[in-house]
Amino acid sequence: MFKKEVYINRRESLKRQVNNGIALFMGNTDVAFNYPANQYHFRQDSNFLYFFGIDHPGFAGVIDFDEGKEYIFGNDFDLDDIIWMGPQPTVKEQAAEVGVENTGTLNDLASFVKKVVETGRKVHFLPPYRGETVITLSELLNVKPSEVKSLVSEELIKAVVKLREIKDDFEIAEIEKAVDIAYLMHTTAMKMAKPGIKEQEIAGTIEGISLALGGPVSFPIILSMNGQTLHNHYHGNILEEGRMMVCDAGSETEEHYASDLTRTTPVGGKFNGRQKDIYQIVLDANFKGIESVKPGVLYKDVHFKAAGVIVEGLKNVGLMKGNVEDAVAAGAHTLFMPHGLGHMMGLDVHDLEGLGEDYVGYDETVKRSTEFGTAYLRLAKKLKPGFVLTVEPGIYFIPALIDKFRAENKFKDFVNYDKLETYKDFGGIRIEDDVLVTEEGHKVLGKPVPKTVDDVEKTCSEPREWLKMEGFI
Ligand code: GLY
Ligand code: MN
Ligand code: MN
Repeated sequence: MFKKEVYINRRESLKRQVNNGIALFMGNTDVAFNYPANQYHFRQDSNFLYFFGIDHPGFAGVIDFDEGKEYIFGNDFDLDDIIWMGPQPTVKEQAAEVGVENTGTLNDLASFVKKVVETGRKVHFLPPYRGETVITLSELLNVKPSEVKSLVSEELIKAVVKLREIKDDFEIAEIEKAVDIAYLMHTTAMKMAKPGIKEQEIAGTIEGISLALGGPVSFPIILSMNGQTLHNHYHGNILEEGRMMVCDAGSETEEHYASDLTRTTPVGGKFNGRQKDIYQIVLDANFKGIESVKPGVLYKDVHFKAAGVIVEGLKNVGLMKGNVEDAVAAGAHTLFMPHGLGHMMGLDVHDLEGLGEDYVGYDETVKRSTEFGTAYLRLAKKLKPGFVLTVEPGIYFIPALIDKFRAENKFKDFVNYDKLETYKDFGGIRIEDDVLVTEEGHKVLGKPVPKTVDDVEKTCSEPREWLKMEGFI
């Protein structure tokens, strides 16, 4: 938990953004895994964490914009709980730690919200993403569960995005800590990527590093020698010489800030000529994307700059042809990179996405494209100092997509399909870093994870390190 002024200031900032009614922030509850007493690892709701800081299940927070008051609702533990869980702070004590004086039970919350509704005041709340929260909201608001989503407050969504998208120094320090953990995860994965090793052994080892140094991974690890599948969570292959391993993984710190990095490693530690050529193009696109990050530019334009580097590079190896700008304008790069260049990052690895991707990545001036590939851009809007985002270009050889586009004669002026046939066994490459937008330009966050051809090969040749816990826990 940060110091209590952080939470007080955040709530005060929100009060300046929303005019009337109340904001109701539902904290998360414990969720059963396979029977009631065996539960998933608890993860607090990021918005509740941001404004109320309490990292325990079963709480709700309220900000009353008319009265200028704040409340935390939750039930105190009884002796039975304490026998199993040890001594626990009271709701009052926990609320005091984040600067909230008014507290009540969950029954009090129900009466409180009922009264607000009866007096015709607005209850602002954010889009729920768990069934449990939908049900609680439906009971509190006395509406059907199916009606809850239609009642979310766009005013509150916009206000929360405006606050959370700009990171404070202490939040950036947390993200850097998460990247530093990811440094060890990724360098360990590189050193383990030898022929004969099962992907699962590497994925499990690096997940353990995250848990040992901070918290759980910030999203399920993507680790596969079939890197052409963008979100490949299958870890059952045995690594083979001549393939590459895509590893997309990040960690969450104790304060729940995320990292999200991707490295692609040749199995056995040496790139062959064909791999090196394609890898260098993705690396150039990564550098171009990072160097283009600065306040005032549209992230959509940064995306297209990186796409231009990819087309240029693929032209040089004979897989694409024609004019680079025309190819990008036509969307021909989407055959190789059918995703956006990156997304916001913070308390959520795809930060704020639960509030609606278009509220986070787009605004009144930038609307989402409907074109294949470009429509997947999670972030397109103008960059501001304090944004933290990912830059994650890739080149993927997806046989089904190649076959489809070829059959449709799509991009035939820009793609050398005959040569491309010979790359169907290649896999994919992605290189991803976490970047802060600064007043002057940008800063790549955390300890730099090796990414040039030479540095990756050198890292692969080095022995694995023991965890160094100092500075983390
Ligand atoms: N976690 C997948 C990605 O956005 O990189
Ligand atoms: Mn990633
Ligand atoms: Mn990412």
